[in-house]
Amino acid sequence: TSEKSDTDIRFVCRGTFVHSTAEEALQILEDALLGVDSKGKIAFIGEGKDLQKLSESFGFCSSAVTQLRQHEFFMPGMIDTHIHAPQYSYAGTALDMPLLQWLNTYTFPVESRFQDIEFAKKVYTQVVKRTLRNGTTTACYFATIHTDASLLLGQIANDFGQRALVGKVCMDRNDGVKYYRETSEESQEETYRFIKELLNKKYPLVKPVVTPRFAPSCTETLLAKLGEMAKNNKLHIQSHISENLKEVEWVKELFPNSESYTDIYHKCNLLTDKTIMAHGCHLSDEELVLFRKTGAALSHCPNSNISLCSGVLNVRNVLNHKVKLGLGTDVAGGYSPSILDAVRRALDSSKVLTIQDPEHKTLSFEEVFRLATLGGSQALSLDERTGNFKVGKDFDALRVNVAAPGGPIDLIQSEKPQILLEKFLNLGDDRNIVEVFVAGKKVVPFSEP
Ligand code: GUN
Ligand code: FE
Repeated sequence: TSEKSDTDIRFVCRGTFVHSTAEEALQILEDALLGVDSKGKIAFIGEGKDLQKLSESFGFCSSAVTQLRQHEFFMPGMIDTHIHAPQYSYAGTALDMPLLQWLNTYTFPVESRFQDIEFAKKVYTQVVKRTLRNGTTTACYFATIHTDASLLLGQIANDFGQRALVGKVCMDRNDGVKYYRETSEESQEETYRFIKELLNKKYPLVKPVVTPRFAPSCTETLLAKLGEMAKNNKLHIQSHISENLKEVEWVKELFPNSESYTDIYHKCNLLTDKTIMAHGCHLSDEELVLFRKTGAALSHCPNSNISLCSGVLNVRNVLNHKVKLGLGTDVAGGYSPSILDAVRRALDSSKVLTIQDPEHKTLSFEEVFRLATLGGSQALSLDERTGNFKVGKDFDALRVNVAAPGGPIDLIQSEKPQILLEKFLNLGDDRNIVEVFVAGKKVVPFSEP
């Protein structure tokens, strides 16, 4: 009696699927069937008694079904909500200074080199490949102030099939650093050119994002112009906020007429439901309320927060304020390009808060799994298309083999999916990520563009 659907099915996967929903941090579907249509979208997902009905109504042939093996599962692709692509060139070094000294000593000299398009091509290819290989199906990138190199980052993400938001960095003040800053007019004009040219490329998975570096590197005039540009074109916005106490003090001096760090961005129309701000370690509850009201999101970058001794974000408090939150690597303030590392550092940071205050409710691995997937997707306002395995969304997924030969995990004490996921999150690495899909296309293992 079931009706036949005319959706054409590209492939079907059968096995264990784990993902998050608004209601459940970890939902497990065992021996489930998931179909991907010709547009790369999830056409159906079901388990148990639905199986017979699904195969009848979608009428795919059994040879189109990929059966997962023992110790394998599918999970949604991971989302890096904050990463500096140029800084990948010195990731794993230069972690001996607090933020403001670190920027002047290491970051600005390196970023200024991205005027050289060949250097940019080399580093940007490496960072896109490395993050994809580690299961980052969506990355929200900062590039540098250089428009052409920033456009190249968009092209490279597109060529390798990574979903990406890419920002040309804006900074019209940088005290004492003449070699790495723009005039206000340049910053506005080049941002406009960047957005126009990137949109003209019509890359299906790559979008521009308006990117004032952070309040101290922008005049109020520039911040207001960028806010206007984002508003008129309904664009994403990204920046940094309240990462380090010295930075917060400095911002107070630079903007004496603002009530708070958050208020500066708010007054310039930079807090919208398409805004993501990195760190936020030192935000007040009143500022979190403003995030909630405007729909702006936070990116939690725990490796960076620890590595640069910036602070410890209280994620529980952010979630209690119902502010959207995802995870970020913040390469190279964070030394690891892998979101699996961000998951572990987020759990560690939450446990440190519990050590300091036993009343603090520690994050569970299931909650952090949600931040790495659905949370990131919501934080980037991409949750209509990504973040979990809901029908109609794009199939962005990792095929994980917890017992991958030559991989880091030996002992499988249990085949229970939640145990396999916990093992992978705590001990796994790219050797366990057998395949990566973005919008239904297999992008790992690589087929070189
Ligand atoms: N604040 C302004 N710029 C940066 C940057 O490049 N990295 C980090 N972690 N914080 C910043
Ligand atoms: Fe950052």
